Amino acid sequence: MRYTINGKKRTARGKMTVLEAARSAGIDIPSLCDNDYLEPYGACRLCVVEVREKGRKGWRVVASCLYPLKEGLEIRTDSKLILQHRKLLVELMLARCSGNRYVRRLAKRFGVKRPRFGGGDEDCIMCGLCVRVCSEIVGAAAIGFSSRGISRKVETPFGIDSSKCIACGACTYVCPTGAINMEYERVIELRKNEKEHMCRYTLMGFLDEAVCMLNYECARCEVDQRMRDRFDTHPAFAMHGRLRGAAAAGRVKRTGKKGVK
Ligand code: SF4
Ligand code: SF4
Ligand code: FES
Repeated sequence: MRYTINGKKRTARGKMTVLEAARSAGIDIPSLCDNDYLEPYGACRLCVVEVREKGRKGWRVVASCLYPLKEGLEIRTDSKLILQHRKLLVELMLARCSGNRYVRRLAKRFGVKRPRFGGGDEDCIMCGLCVRVCSEIVGAAAIGFSSRGISRKVETPFGIDSSKCIACGACTYVCPTGAINMEYERVIELRKNEKEHMCRYTLMGFLDEAVCMLNYECARCEVDQRMRDRFDTHPAFAMHGRLRGAAAAGRVKRTGKKGVK
């Protein structure tokens, strides 16, 4: 497949998105809500680029993480219009999360000094990474988005039921802004349970029938330490990557679009 990116002609093989093509060409496109292990979602729009399809006159602004690379596609990743778009998006994030350190650093990087709009004190930028990791990788689907517009937020169903949460902490691990503390809240719930409870690594499929002896004091747990040392990422991602590798090698069957068993 032949395409042009920032005026340079390139070729690519196989299906890929514009974001993947740009990265393989060594071109940096900022992105917040993408993750190699998760389905593209298109929430942050920071990855916007301009594209012009073969035979068409006009340029369009699209989210590169969702847009498929096509034969003859022309792409601009750093035009004036695109830089303005990204700056405005970051300004809106800063308006919503004016005190969050991650968002403030982002604003500095994009040259946003002070937002022209309100001064919200939220921490969540609505990237949806936590919701997707919980559903697509952990398989618990314990959290989701609720409400609409400015009231939209991440929470457990009806804001109360967290019984599906296994306190794996993958949502906390993946959250860029530090907005989510679901793991801790669920741990408190689990500790209240008088009965024996399963180690979270058993619930993630790493250990067989291990019972947590430490009352979810994961910071003191040797299993926890060893898992993190060994995989150098969150164990849920390690597990998913291992299964995905096995699926690619034909050792396990893919079941449905998102899960691998
Ligand atoms: S800690 Fe709970 S909510 Fe967070 S990813 Fe794990 S199961 Fe889902
Ligand atoms: S809590 Fe964090 S990971 Fe979840 S949507 Fe908000 S910013 Fe994204
Ligand atoms: S990375 Fe494309 S919309 Fe967020």
